Amino acid sequence: MSEEQLARLREILAAHEGKRGSLIPILQDVQSALGYLPEAAMPHIARHTGVSAGQVYGVAGFFAQFHLKPRGRKVVSVCKGTACHVQGATRVMERLEEHLGIKEGETTPDGEYTLESVACVGCCALAPCVVVNNDDVHGRLDPHAAVAVLAKDK
Ligand code: FES
Repeated sequence: MSEEQLARLREILAAHEGKRGSLIPILQDVQSALGYLPEAAMPHIARHTGVSAGQVYGVAGFFAQFHLKPRGRKVVSVCKGTACHVQGATRVMERLEEHLGIKEGETTPDGEYTLESVACVGCCALAPCVVVNNDDVHGRLDPHAAVAVLAKDK
């Protein structure tokens, strides 16, 4: 963890000083500030909240909202719900993996992209869909068009 990250973590812990039941709000604030929950932050959070580092890990690992590894500036989520699966989501994912040189669940070494799959995003009529950074939905994609989405979102 960098000095800057550590300073940010200390600010967050200070803001939660004296508040009971603050583990999850602390984890949310740390992730919001740093983009993920660094391993080195866990002992600090544990000391502050009075639980073990293992318990902090357990909570962070249990909730899908928390990320224990750095994420890319752009999170590319391929919908793998039934409608998208039937319409070729697997081929879309394979093409994006090939294009980015990473596998599903990984982040490019330059920190630009994280590639992941998600359950139905509620746009089944547009299947197959890819969502960028949780709010930018692209539909009716073939593998070629999915790569073009990345170029468009640069
Ligand atoms: S299955 Fe992909 S949007 Fe519903």
